[in-house]
Amino acid sequence: MKSKNWTIYLSLVIITSLAVFLIFRTGQSQAQKVTAKDLYKKSCAACHGEDGKGVEKMAKMLKATIRDVTKLTMTAELSKEWDKVTKDGKGKMPAYKAKLKPAEIDSVLAYMQTMTVKPTKSETAEAKDTTKVSKDTTKVK
Ligand code: HEC
Repeated sequence: MKSKNWTIYLSLVIITSLAVFLIFRTGQSQAQKVTAKDLYKKSCAACHGEDGKGVEKMAKMLKATIRDVTKLTMTAELSKEWDKVTKDGKGKMPAYKAKLKPAEIDSVLAYMQTMTVKPTKSETAEAKDTTKVSKDTTKVK
């Protein structure tokens, strides 16, 4: 009788520690997988806002302009500029070169870019049309 109780007790201990071990392991692997979004929220959202629209209070405090990125059209040039601004800083924007790994900067900027406007085909076509019209006008004159 006594030894049977011991067996039950022992199995309970083993099961409990296994469960604790598994829960701990899952928690740990989740903590290690910091996503670009988490990184953005942690390092950038204080000034740029979780939605990328910029925190007005912060801008006022810094006496800086934080542009609403949801209104920006993401072009190749702007993407390059963002890379430089984030690494080297600009005005009140802190430099992240020493604080984040290049891969982290890439991923956080990729996340930030998902909030911007993508250039559309019609915009490119419009730009071409405008050039044509101005050329024609020059001919008429
Ligand atoms: C202390 C506030 C602050 C924090 C934190 C901050 N920024 Fe900025 N950021 C600014 C300001 C201010 C500007 C505008 C700089 C200028 O143009 O003078 C800016 C500009 C930018 C721009 C250029 C946007 C544009 O207008 O085209 C990018 C990209 C950017 N930040 C990315 C980041 C990223 C990525 C992080 C986090 C890793 C971050 N910022 C954290 C204040 C901040």
